[in-house]
Amino acid sequence: MRTSLTITPGRPLTGSISIPGDKSITHRAIILTSLAEGISTVTSYCRGEDCLNTMRAFQALGVRIEETPDRLQVHGKGMWGLTEPLGPIDCGNSGTGIRLMTGLLAGQDFFTVLTGDESIRRRPMGRVVKPLRSMGATIAGRKGGELAPLAITGTRLKGIACQSPVASAQVKSSLLLAGLFADGVTTITEPRLSRDHTERMFAYFGIPFRRDGASVSIEGRPAVRWTGKSVVVPGDLSAAAFFIVGASIVPGSDVTVRTVGMNPTRTGVLDVLRAMGARIEVLNPREEAGEPVADLRVRSAPLQGVTVGPELIPQTIDEFPILCVAAAVAEGDTVISGAEELRVKESDRIATMATELRSMGACIDERPDGMVIHGLGRAGQNGRLTGATCSSHGDHRVAMSVAIGALTAQTPTVVEDTACIETSFPRFEDKLLELLTEHGKGL
Ligand code: S3P
Repeated sequence: MRTSLTITPGRPLTGSISIPGDKSITHRAIILTSLAEGISTVTSYCRGEDCLNTMRAFQALGVRIEETPDRLQVHGKGMWGLTEPLGPIDCGNSGTGIRLMTGLLAGQDFFTVLTGDESIRRRPMGRVVKPLRSMGATIAGRKGGELAPLAITGTRLKGIACQSPVASAQVKSSLLLAGLFADGVTTITEPRLSRDHTERMFAYFGIPFRRDGASVSIEGRPAVRWTGKSVVVPGDLSAAAFFIVGASIVPGSDVTVRTVGMNPTRTGVLDVLRAMGARIEVLNPREEAGEPVADLRVRSAPLQGVTVGPELIPQTIDEFPILCVAAAVAEGDTVISGAEELRVKESDRIATMATELRSMGACIDERPDGMVIHGLGRAGQNGRLTGATCSSHGDHRVAMSVAIGALTAQTPTVVEDTACIETSFPRFEDKLLELLTEHGKGL
Protein backbone atom coordinates (compact mmCIF):
# COMPACT_ATOMS: atom_id res chain seq x y z
CA MET A 1 0.00 0.00 0.00
CA ARG A 2 1.33 3.46 -0.92
CA THR A 3 2.07 5.49 2.13
CA SER A 4 2.51 8.85 0.44
CA LEU A 5 0.62 10.80 -2.17
CA THR A 6 2.19 13.31 -4.59
CA ILE A 7 -0.13 15.98 -5.91
CA THR A 8 0.84 17.82 -9.08
CA PRO A 9 -1.43 20.86 -9.37
CA GLY A 10 -2.56 22.87 -12.36
CA ARG A 11 -5.74 21.17 -13.59
CA PRO A 12 -9.42 21.74 -12.79
CA LEU A 13 -11.67 18.98 -11.44
CA THR A 14 -14.36 17.95 -13.91
CA GLY A 15 -16.83 15.11 -14.29
CA SER A 16 -19.35 13.10 -12.34
CA ILE A 17 -18.40 10.64 -9.60
CA SER A 18 -19.80 8.38 -6.95
CA ILE A 19 -18.31 8.31 -3.47
CA PRO A 20 -18.11 5.68 -0.71
CA GLY A 21 -21.18 4.86 1.36
CA ASP A 22 -21.73 6.84 4.52
CA LYS A 23 -19.44 5.63 7.30
CA SER A 24 -21.78 6.52 10.18
CA ILE A 25 -24.76 4.84 8.53
CA THR A 26 -22.74 1.73 7.60
CA HIS A 27 -21.70 1.18 11.25
CA ARG A 28 -25.32 1.44 12.36
CA ALA A 29 -26.56 -0.78 9.53
CA ILE A 30 -24.14 -3.54 10.56
CA ILE A 31 -25.20 -3.27 14.20
CA LEU A 32 -28.96 -3.23 13.67
CA THR A 33 -29.01 -5.88 10.94
CA SER A 34 -26.96 -8.14 13.24
CA LEU A 35 -29.66 -7.73 15.91
CA ALA A 36 -32.48 -8.26 13.41
CA GLU A 37 -34.16 -11.62 12.89
CA GLY A 38 -33.26 -13.09 9.52
CA ILE A 39 -31.31 -11.91 6.54
CA SER A 40 -30.59 -8.29 5.61
CA THR A 41 -28.60 -6.87 2.73
CA VAL A 42 -26.59 -3.69 3.10
CA THR A 43 -25.69 -2.20 -0.28
CA SER A 44 -23.45 0.74 -1.24
CA TYR A 45 -21.84 0.38 2.18
CA CYS A 46 -18.59 2.04 3.20
CA ARG A 47 -15.68 -0.35 2.67
CA GLY A 48 -13.32 1.78 4.73
CA GLU A 49 -11.30 -0.02 7.39
CA ASP A 50 -13.42 1.52 10.19
CA CYS A 51 -16.58 -0.17 8.96
CA LEU A 52 -14.80 -3.39 8.03
CA ASN A 53 -13.57 -3.54 11.62
CA THR A 54 -17.15 -3.23 12.87
CA MET A 55 -18.18 -5.96 10.45
CA ARG A 56 -15.37 -8.23 11.75
CA ALA A 57 -16.43 -7.40 15.32
CA PHE A 58 -19.95 -8.69 14.67
CA GLN A 59 -18.56 -11.76 12.98
CA ALA A 60 -16.55 -12.33 16.18
CA LEU A 61 -19.80 -11.87 18.13
CA GLY A 62 -21.25 -14.82 16.25
CA VAL A 63 -23.06 -13.12 13.35
CA ARG A 64 -22.63 -14.59 9.89
CA ILE A 65 -21.86 -11.75 7.48
CA GLU A 66 -21.00 -12.43 3.85
CA GLU A 67 -19.05 -9.67 2.23
CA THR A 68 -18.76 -8.68 -1.42
CA PRO A 69 -17.50 -5.30 -2.68
CA ASP A 70 -21.11 -4.28 -3.45
CA ARG A 71 -23.04 -5.57 -0.50
CA LEU A 72 -23.08 -7.26 2.86
CA GLN A 73 -25.44 -10.08 3.56
CA VAL A 74 -26.07 -10.17 7.30
CA HIS A 75 -27.67 -13.21 8.93
CA GLY A 76 -29.16 -11.41 11.93
CA LYS A 77 -29.31 -13.35 15.19
CA GLY A 78 -32.07 -11.39 16.85
CA MET A 79 -31.80 -9.02 19.78
CA TRP A 80 -30.45 -11.63 22.22
CA GLY A 81 -28.38 -13.67 19.78
CA LEU A 82 -24.86 -12.26 20.13
CA THR A 83 -22.28 -14.59 21.67
CA GLU A 84 -19.03 -14.09 23.55
CA PRO A 85 -16.02 -13.46 21.29
CA LEU A 86 -12.99 -15.67 21.83
CA GLY A 87 -10.52 -12.79 21.96
CA PRO A 88 -10.26 -9.00 22.10
CA ILE A 89 -12.09 -7.02 19.41
CA ASP A 90 -9.94 -4.57 17.46
CA CYS A 91 -11.89 -1.45 16.47
CA GLY A 92 -8.88 -0.02 14.60
CA ASN A 93 -9.12 3.76 14.21
CA SER A 94 -12.86 4.00 14.77
CA GLY A 95 -14.31 6.12 17.57
CA THR A 96 -17.80 5.28 16.38
CA GLY A 97 -17.08 1.55 16.37
CA ILE A 98 -15.61 1.39 19.86
CA ARG A 99 -18.09 3.76 21.53
CA LEU A 100 -21.24 2.26 20.00
CA MET A 101 -20.07 -1.26 20.77
CA THR A 102 -19.20 -0.36 24.36
CA GLY A 103 -22.83 0.63 24.92
CA LEU A 104 -24.22 -2.39 23.13
CA LEU A 105 -21.94 -4.90 24.86
CA ALA A 106 -22.43 -3.46 28.37
CA GLY A 107 -25.89 -5.05 28.48
CA GLN A 108 -25.02 -8.52 27.12
CA ASP A 109 -24.49 -11.58 29.28
CA PHE A 110 -20.84 -12.11 28.35
CA PHE A 111 -17.38 -10.57 28.59
CA THR A 112 -15.68 -8.52 25.86
CA VAL A 113 -12.47 -6.54 25.45
CA LEU A 114 -12.48 -3.66 22.97
CA THR A 115 -9.31 -2.02 21.76
CA GLY A 116 -7.98 -0.11 18.76
CA ASP A 117 -4.98 1.57 17.22
CA GLU A 118 -2.67 4.07 18.84
CA SER A 119 -5.03 7.00 18.04
CA ILE A 120 -8.08 5.25 19.48
CA ARG A 121 -6.15 4.38 22.64
CA ARG A 122 -5.54 8.13 23.19
CA ARG A 123 -9.15 9.25 22.69
CA PRO A 124 -11.57 9.88 25.58
CA MET A 125 -13.79 6.92 26.49
CA GLY A 126 -14.97 8.32 29.84
CA ARG A 127 -17.74 10.14 27.98
CA VAL A 128 -19.45 6.77 27.38
CA VAL A 129 -18.00 4.75 30.26
CA LYS A 130 -19.24 7.12 33.00
CA PRO A 131 -22.93 7.23 31.97
CA LEU A 132 -22.87 3.51 31.21
CA ARG A 133 -21.56 2.85 34.73
CA SER A 134 -24.46 4.83 36.12
CA MET A 135 -26.70 2.39 34.23
CA GLY A 136 -24.95 -0.38 36.18
CA ALA A 137 -22.32 -1.35 33.60
CA THR A 138 -19.10 -3.05 34.66
CA ILE A 139 -16.35 -1.59 32.51
CA ALA A 140 -12.64 -1.46 33.30
CA GLY A 141 -10.00 0.32 31.28
CA ARG A 142 -6.77 2.28 31.42
CA LYS A 143 -6.88 5.41 33.59
CA GLY A 144 -9.98 4.20 35.42
CA GLY A 145 -11.88 3.55 32.18
CA GLU A 146 -10.94 6.83 30.52
CA LEU A 147 -8.87 5.07 27.87
CA ALA A 148 -9.08 1.84 25.81
CA PRO A 149 -8.58 -1.06 25.95
CA LEU A 150 -11.92 -1.46 27.69
CA ALA A 151 -12.93 -4.72 29.40
CA ILE A 152 -16.70 -5.06 29.58
CA THR A 153 -18.37 -7.60 31.85
CA GLY A 154 -21.89 -7.61 30.48
CA THR A 155 -24.64 -7.20 33.05
CA ARG A 156 -28.31 -6.30 33.42
CA LEU A 157 -28.55 -2.51 33.03
CA LYS A 158 -31.14 -0.06 34.25
CA GLY A 159 -32.38 2.96 32.29
CA ILE A 160 -31.26 6.44 33.32
CA ALA A 161 -31.90 10.05 32.32
CA CYS A 162 -28.60 11.50 31.26
CA GLN A 163 -27.56 15.02 30.30
CA SER A 164 -24.55 14.72 27.99
CA PRO A 165 -22.05 17.58 28.32
CA VAL A 166 -21.12 17.19 24.63
CA ALA A 167 -23.23 17.08 21.47
CA SER A 168 -21.95 13.70 20.34
CA ALA A 169 -23.79 11.13 18.24
CA GLN A 170 -21.31 8.55 19.46
CA VAL A 171 -22.26 9.15 23.09
CA LYS A 172 -25.98 9.36 22.29
CA SER A 173 -25.91 6.17 20.20
CA SER A 174 -23.84 4.26 22.74
CA LEU A 175 -26.41 5.03 25.43
CA LEU A 176 -29.36 4.27 23.15
CA LEU A 177 -27.88 0.86 22.31
CA ALA A 178 -27.28 0.18 26.00
CA GLY A 179 -30.80 1.45 26.72
CA LEU A 180 -32.25 -1.05 24.26
CA PHE A 181 -31.08 -3.86 26.58
CA ALA A 182 -31.77 -2.09 29.91
CA ASP A 183 -34.73 -2.24 32.27
CA GLY A 184 -36.97 0.83 32.00
CA VAL A 185 -36.49 3.99 29.99
CA THR A 186 -33.17 5.58 29.02
CA THR A 187 -33.24 9.25 28.07
CA ILE A 188 -30.31 11.20 26.74
CA THR A 189 -30.34 14.97 26.34
CA GLU A 190 -27.67 16.75 24.31
CA PRO A 191 -26.68 20.42 24.43
CA ARG A 192 -27.28 20.50 20.65
CA LEU A 193 -28.71 17.91 18.32
CA SER A 194 -25.99 15.64 16.92
CA ARG A 195 -26.36 13.48 13.80
CA ASP A 196 -29.51 11.36 14.07
CA HIS A 197 -28.66 8.28 12.00
CA THR A 198 -29.26 5.90 14.91
CA GLU A 199 -32.74 7.27 15.46
CA ARG A 200 -33.53 7.14 11.74
CA MET A 201 -32.36 3.56 11.52
CA PHE A 202 -34.37 2.63 14.62
CA ALA A 203 -37.40 4.09 12.83
CA TYR A 204 -36.52 2.23 9.61
CA PHE A 205 -36.44 -1.11 11.46
CA GLY A 206 -39.50 -0.28 13.59
CA ILE A 207 -37.66 -0.02 16.93
CA PRO A 208 -39.69 2.36 19.12
CA PHE A 209 -38.09 5.52 20.58
CA ARG A 210 -39.26 9.04 21.39
CA ARG A 211 -37.70 12.37 20.41
CA ASP A 212 -38.44 15.57 22.29
CA GLY A 213 -36.24 18.46 21.13
CA ALA A 214 -32.64 17.52 21.91
CA SER A 215 -33.75 14.54 24.07
CA VAL A 216 -34.21 10.96 22.88
CA SER A 217 -35.77 8.19 24.98
CA ILE A 218 -35.90 4.47 24.48
CA GLU A 219 -37.85 1.85 26.39
CA GLY A 220 -35.52 -1.08 27.05
CA ARG A 221 -36.19 -4.74 26.28
CA PRO A 222 -39.00 -3.88 23.83
CA ALA A 223 -41.60 -6.51 23.03
CA VAL A 224 -41.08 -5.84 19.32
CA ARG A 225 -38.57 -7.88 17.34
CA TRP A 226 -37.35 -6.50 14.05
CA THR A 227 -36.79 -8.47 10.90
CA GLY A 228 -34.01 -8.28 8.34
CA LYS A 229 -34.40 -5.67 5.61
CA SER A 230 -32.57 -4.19 2.70
CA VAL A 231 -30.54 -1.10 3.62
CA VAL A 232 -29.19 1.13 0.84
CA VAL A 233 -26.48 3.35 2.30
CA PRO A 234 -26.30 6.89 0.87
CA GLY A 235 -22.96 8.33 -0.27
CA ASP A 236 -20.97 9.96 2.50
CA LEU A 237 -21.29 13.76 2.49
CA SER A 238 -18.10 13.86 4.56
CA ALA A 239 -16.27 12.13 1.67
CA ALA A 240 -18.02 14.28 -0.95
CA ALA A 241 -16.86 17.38 0.94
CA PHE A 242 -13.29 16.94 -0.33
CA PHE A 243 -14.44 17.20 -3.95
CA ILE A 244 -17.01 19.91 -3.17
CA VAL A 245 -14.27 22.11 -1.76
CA GLY A 246 -11.79 21.01 -4.46
CA ALA A 247 -14.23 22.00 -7.21
CA SER A 248 -14.98 25.29 -5.45
CA ILE A 249 -11.35 26.40 -5.09
CA VAL A 250 -9.70 25.17 -8.31
CA PRO A 251 -10.65 27.56 -11.15
CA GLY A 252 -12.51 26.02 -14.08
CA SER A 253 -13.85 23.06 -12.09
CA ASP A 254 -17.32 21.56 -12.58
CA VAL A 255 -18.06 18.40 -10.61
CA THR A 256 -21.22 16.40 -9.93
CA VAL A 257 -21.16 14.03 -6.95
CA ARG A 258 -23.90 11.44 -7.18
CA THR A 259 -26.20 10.11 -4.44
CA VAL A 260 -24.91 12.08 -1.46
CA GLY A 261 -26.52 11.82 1.98
CA MET A 262 -28.31 15.10 2.79
CA ASN A 263 -29.36 14.44 6.37
CA PRO A 264 -29.90 17.94 7.85
CA THR A 265 -27.87 17.01 10.95
CA ARG A 266 -24.87 16.63 8.62
CA THR A 267 -25.18 19.40 6.03
CA GLY A 268 -23.45 22.24 7.90
CA VAL A 269 -20.59 22.07 5.40
CA LEU A 270 -22.96 23.11 2.60
CA ASP A 271 -24.34 26.01 4.66
CA VAL A 272 -20.85 27.24 5.48
CA LEU A 273 -19.60 26.92 1.90
CA ARG A 274 -22.66 28.68 0.52
CA ALA A 275 -22.14 31.50 3.02
CA MET A 276 -18.59 31.72 1.64
CA GLY A 277 -19.94 32.10 -1.91
CA ALA A 278 -19.69 28.52 -3.19
CA ARG A 279 -21.82 27.51 -6.21
CA ILE A 280 -23.54 24.31 -5.09
CA GLU A 281 -26.69 22.99 -6.73
CA VAL A 282 -28.80 20.26 -5.15
CA LEU A 283 -30.24 18.03 -7.89
CA ASN A 284 -32.76 15.21 -7.84
CA PRO A 285 -33.50 15.09 -4.08
CA ARG A 286 -34.96 11.73 -2.94
CA GLU A 287 -34.96 9.32 0.02
CA GLU A 288 -33.19 5.99 0.65
CA ALA A 289 -33.63 3.80 3.74
CA GLY A 290 -35.04 6.69 5.77
CA GLU A 291 -32.28 9.14 4.78
CA PRO A 292 -32.49 12.06 2.30
CA VAL A 293 -30.06 11.95 -0.65
CA ALA A 294 -29.35 14.13 -3.70
CA ASP A 295 -26.78 14.73 -6.42
CA LEU A 296 -24.62 17.80 -5.94
CA ARG A 297 -23.18 19.92 -8.76
CA VAL A 298 -20.37 22.25 -7.77
CA ARG A 299 -18.61 24.84 -9.91
CA SER A 300 -15.62 26.94 -8.92
CA ALA A 301 -16.28 30.33 -7.36
CA PRO A 302 -14.39 32.97 -5.41
CA LEU A 303 -14.85 32.35 -1.68
CA GLN A 304 -14.99 34.82 1.19
CA GLY A 305 -14.17 34.29 4.86
CA VAL A 306 -17.02 33.47 7.22
CA THR A 307 -17.79 33.19 10.93
CA VAL A 308 -18.69 29.71 12.19
CA GLY A 309 -20.04 29.68 15.75
CA PRO A 310 -20.93 26.90 18.23
CA GLU A 311 -24.47 26.42 16.86
CA LEU A 312 -23.08 25.12 13.54
CA ILE A 313 -20.41 22.79 14.97
CA PRO A 314 -22.26 19.45 15.42
CA GLN A 315 -23.61 19.31 11.85
CA THR A 316 -20.20 20.28 10.42
CA ILE A 317 -17.91 18.45 12.83
CA ASP A 318 -16.04 16.16 10.39
CA GLU A 319 -15.69 18.77 7.67
CA PHE A 320 -13.52 21.30 9.51
CA PRO A 321 -10.24 20.01 8.07
CA ILE A 322 -11.46 20.58 4.51
CA LEU A 323 -13.24 23.82 5.45
CA CYS A 324 -9.90 25.07 6.78
CA VAL A 325 -8.54 24.58 3.26
CA ALA A 326 -11.41 26.57 1.75
CA ALA A 327 -10.86 29.32 4.33
CA ALA A 328 -7.10 29.37 3.71
CA VAL A 329 -7.57 30.34 0.05
CA ALA A 330 -10.68 32.53 0.53
CA GLU A 331 -10.63 36.30 0.69
CA GLY A 332 -10.75 37.65 4.26
CA ASP A 333 -10.81 36.04 7.69
CA THR A 334 -12.66 32.92 8.77
CA VAL A 335 -13.34 32.61 12.50
CA ILE A 336 -14.25 29.22 13.97
CA SER A 337 -15.29 29.00 17.63
CA GLY A 338 -16.94 26.49 19.96
CA ALA A 339 -15.14 23.67 18.16
CA GLU A 340 -13.01 22.23 21.00
CA GLU A 341 -14.30 18.73 20.09
CA LEU A 342 -11.94 18.92 17.11
CA ARG A 343 -9.08 18.42 19.55
CA VAL A 344 -10.21 14.87 20.39
CA LYS A 345 -10.82 13.48 16.90
CA GLU A 346 -8.49 11.07 15.05
CA SER A 347 -5.88 13.80 15.62
CA ASP A 348 -6.09 17.21 17.32
CA ARG A 349 -7.50 18.72 14.14
CA ILE A 350 -7.07 22.33 15.23
CA ALA A 351 -3.35 21.76 15.77
CA THR A 352 -2.71 19.39 12.86
CA MET A 353 -4.54 21.49 10.25
CA ALA A 354 -2.88 24.70 11.49
CA THR A 355 0.55 23.05 11.27
CA GLU A 356 0.09 21.59 7.80
CA LEU A 357 -1.62 24.59 6.22
CA ARG A 358 1.02 26.92 7.67
CA SER A 359 3.68 24.78 6.01
CA MET A 360 1.77 25.46 2.76
CA GLY A 361 1.86 29.23 3.30
CA ALA A 362 -1.47 29.77 5.10
CA CYS A 363 -1.83 32.28 7.88
CA ILE A 364 -3.64 30.80 10.92
CA ASP A 365 -4.07 31.70 14.60
CA GLU A 366 -4.93 28.76 16.81
CA ARG A 367 -7.42 29.19 19.66
CA PRO A 368 -8.35 26.66 22.34
CA ASP A 369 -11.79 26.17 20.77
CA GLY A 370 -11.13 26.95 17.13
CA MET A 371 -9.01 29.11 14.88
CA VAL A 372 -8.80 32.30 12.86
CA ILE A 373 -7.72 31.71 9.28
CA HIS A 374 -6.51 34.74 7.36
CA GLY A 375 -7.40 33.85 3.77
CA LEU A 376 -4.86 34.28 0.97
CA GLY A 377 -7.50 35.38 -1.60
CA ARG A 378 -7.63 38.91 -2.97
CA ALA A 379 -10.32 40.99 -4.74
CA GLY A 380 -12.84 38.31 -5.71
CA GLN A 381 -10.16 35.67 -6.42
CA ASN A 382 -9.15 32.65 -4.43
CA GLY A 383 -5.54 32.55 -3.28
CA ARG A 384 -3.09 29.69 -3.72
CA LEU A 385 -1.26 27.55 -1.23
CA THR A 386 2.40 26.62 -1.72
CA GLY A 387 3.61 23.11 -2.50
CA ALA A 388 5.23 21.45 0.51
CA THR A 389 6.00 18.13 2.15
CA CYS A 390 3.15 17.50 4.57
CA SER A 391 2.14 14.89 7.12
CA SER A 392 -1.29 13.38 7.69
CA HIS A 393 -0.56 12.89 11.41
CA GLY A 394 -2.23 9.52 10.85
CA ASP A 395 -5.58 11.27 10.32
CA HIS A 396 -7.50 10.37 7.15
CA ARG A 397 -9.34 13.67 6.92
CA VAL A 398 -6.15 15.70 7.38
CA ALA A 399 -4.47 13.66 4.60
CA MET A 400 -7.30 14.21 2.11
CA SER A 401 -7.72 17.90 3.03
CA VAL A 402 -4.05 18.64 2.46
CA ALA A 403 -4.17 16.77 -0.87
CA ILE A 404 -7.09 18.95 -2.02
CA GLY A 405 -5.42 22.16 -0.83
CA ALA A 406 -2.33 21.14 -2.82
CA LEU A 407 -4.35 21.40 -6.06
CA THR A 408 -4.22 25.19 -5.70
CA ALA A 409 -0.42 25.35 -5.43
CA GLN A 410 2.09 26.11 -8.17
CA THR A 411 4.45 23.26 -7.25
CA PRO A 412 3.85 19.65 -6.22
CA THR A 413 3.03 18.57 -2.66
CA VAL A 414 3.91 15.29 -1.04
CA VAL A 415 1.48 14.11 1.64
CA GLU A 416 3.21 11.54 3.80
CA ASP A 417 1.65 8.75 5.84
CA THR A 418 -1.51 8.39 3.76
CA ALA A 419 -2.39 4.76 4.52
CA CYS A 420 -4.90 6.19 7.03
CA ILE A 421 -7.12 7.32 4.11
CA GLU A 422 -8.26 3.68 3.95
CA THR A 423 -10.18 4.15 7.21
CA SER A 424 -12.96 6.05 5.44
CA PHE A 425 -12.22 6.51 1.74
CA PRO A 426 -10.70 3.55 -0.11
CA ARG A 427 -9.55 4.60 -3.61
CA PHE A 428 -9.61 8.33 -2.82
CA GLU A 429 -6.59 8.76 -5.06
CA ASP A 430 -8.36 7.03 -8.00
CA LYS A 431 -11.44 9.21 -7.56
CA LEU A 432 -9.34 12.35 -7.56
CA LEU A 433 -7.52 11.11 -10.62
CA GLU A 434 -10.85 10.42 -12.34
CA LEU A 435 -11.79 14.09 -11.94
CA LEU A 436 -8.39 15.32 -13.10
CA THR A 437 -7.90 12.85 -15.94
CA GLU A 438 -9.34 14.85 -18.82
CA HIS A 439 -6.63 17.36 -18.16
CA GLY A 440 -3.46 15.30 -17.98
CA LYS A 441 -2.07 12.09 -16.57
CA GLY A 442 -1.43 11.13 -12.97
CA LEU A 443 -1.60 13.15 -9.81
C1 S3P B 1 -19.97 9.94 14.34
C2 S3P B 1 -20.15 11.02 15.14
C3 S3P B 1 -19.22 12.16 15.18
C4 S3P B 1 -18.21 12.15 14.05
C5 S3P B 1 -17.70 10.80 13.75
C6 S3P B 1 -18.84 9.84 13.41
C7 S3P B 1 -20.96 8.87 14.39
O1 S3P B 1 -18.57 12.11 16.40
O2 S3P B 1 -17.13 13.02 14.33
O3 S3P B 1 -16.80 10.83 12.64
O4 S3P B 1 -21.01 8.05 13.45
O5 S3P B 1 -21.73 8.82 15.36
P1 S3P B 1 -19.23 12.85 17.67
O6 S3P B 1 -20.69 12.87 17.44
O7 S3P B 1 -18.84 12.05 18.83
O8 S3P B 1 -18.68 14.23 17.62
